[in-house]
Amino acid sequence: MNLPNLNDARKRTKEKVNILENYKITIEQKLIGKGKKYYVKTYGCQMNEHDSENIKAILEDMGYSSTDNLEDANLIILNTCAIRENAHNKVFGLLGRIKHMKQTKEVMVGFGGCMAQEEVIIDEILSKYKWIDFVFGTHNIYDLPNIIEKAKNKQEIDVFSIEGDVIENIPVKRDSKYKAWVNIMYGCDKFCTYCIVPYTRGKQRSRLPEYIIDEVNNLIKDGYKEVTLLGQNVNAYGKDLDIDYNMANLLEDVAKTNIERIRFVTSHPWDFNDDMIDVISKYKNIMPYIHLPLQSGSNKILKLMGRRYTKEQYLKLYNKLKTKIPNCAITTDIIVGFPNETKEDFQDTLDVVNKCKYDGAFTFIFSPRIGTPACRMKDEILLEEKEERLQILNDLVNKYSKENNLQYLNKIVPVLLEDYSSKNGNYLKGYTDTMKLVNVKADDNYLGKIVNVKITSVKTWSMDGEII
Ligand code: SAH
Ligand code: SF4
Ligand code: F3S
Repeated sequence: MNLPNLNDARKRTKEKVNILENYKITIEQKLIGKGKKYYVKTYGCQMNEHDSENIKAILEDMGYSSTDNLEDANLIILNTCAIRENAHNKVFGLLGRIKHMKQTKEVMVGFGGCMAQEEVIIDEILSKYKWIDFVFGTHNIYDLPNIIEKAKNKQEIDVFSIEGDVIENIPVKRDSKYKAWVNIMYGCDKFCTYCIVPYTRGKQRSRLPEYIIDEVNNLIKDGYKEVTLLGQNVNAYGKDLDIDYNMANLLEDVAKTNIERIRFVTSHPWDFNDDMIDVISKYKNIMPYIHLPLQSGSNKILKLMGRRYTKEQYLKLYNKLKTKIPNCAITTDIIVGFPNETKEDFQDTLDVVNKCKYDGAFTFIFSPRIGTPACRMKDEILLEEKEERLQILNDLVNKYSKENNLQYLNKIVPVLLEDYSSKNGNYLKGYTDTMKLVNVKADDNYLGKIVNVKITSVKTWSMDGEII
């Protein structure tokens, strides 16, 4: 048994990052899932979505096949998220249902992802969830064949609180045939005071450019149209490598592969430099869309959060992006109710929203995460007050989102049609270069194509259009 440890997770030493090919599977392990079905439920960010693509590929390598029906599964894996308390609650809700299932049929249950990296959660599993068959963390997904094999006999808990290495040979089963996630870095060293990610994901480790470019070239060969470069703060890419190579260099090299669309998430404003902006505006295949988390508009709160920029610096960057990248859409993340956030602090946040008129924003009430500095800060704001602030913020965000969308009415925009629309079988859905969701009447032949679409109607969260 390997249990997570918060103090170890916090450590950052000068230890070298190893590039390893640790994924191995024996002939016996390839037969474990024969005739059996798996169901993977994913919570959290794109990083977790992509980890689940690795988990699914490993399970298929072990002989399992997939099912979309929880009740049909012989193996259920929850890939969890720890970012806020409500992420926890959802997972425990589903565990209740699975426990019930386990009383009537034989099913193996695995628990992985960021919650598994938390000491408090593992304590809870050890005391109240003895029926969970295995637990794995974010650092040892590659070891699933061994973990599952061992779990056949007894509860197997294998979680490492290490700084982390880079494992290059994990197989992947991608959810889409047209757009792909490509990890460019793992972990995070920023330690924003509210955030659990640096503890659950380890230190920042950039992948070497040649591996990334290889992956993109292979995706092109497989017919992929779009890649999203993934990391917790991609703008810091390369800072941990021994070579003189940064995010601007990587973006340029990926652009030169001629893949049709390139996106990247998430951009920390602190590391966004002019070279990057120049490269984005120079290459047509780097999409004019940037997710630029603000978190707060108050300098006092930004400082308490450890974000390392001021409201003024953020606005300056925002304006630079808007002027240098034509037609650029910008979205953001905002936290309300951080400890000691006064009405004036909140007004500062609204002020930035009024200035930036975001295309969209993910908004959250501060959620104390055990082990983070903000969790120990005194917090006297009532929950009702926080909920009220969230509501005011959401109304403002929605107003600008709709206003921005309205500017698309009757315009012709490029859309990558990626799937059937959820609203109607005769419709396909896709995203514009600026990441606007569009529903279009079209048949299957258009799947995976980038088409010009005239926008005919607009809502707060999506648009309808016709192929030109
Ligand atoms: N790496 C990204 C953020 C990843 S987490 C970045 O730095 O921008 C996604 C979002 O969750 C964050 O931007 C933040 O707005 C929110 N978040 C993170 N920790 C939180 C907490 N403890 N309470 C509420 N929201 C939180
Ligand atoms: Fe969390 Fe900050 Fe790292 Fe983003 S940059 S993952 S908010 S610590
Ligand atoms: Fe959640 Fe872990 Fe992502 S905490 S947001 S799944 S990095």
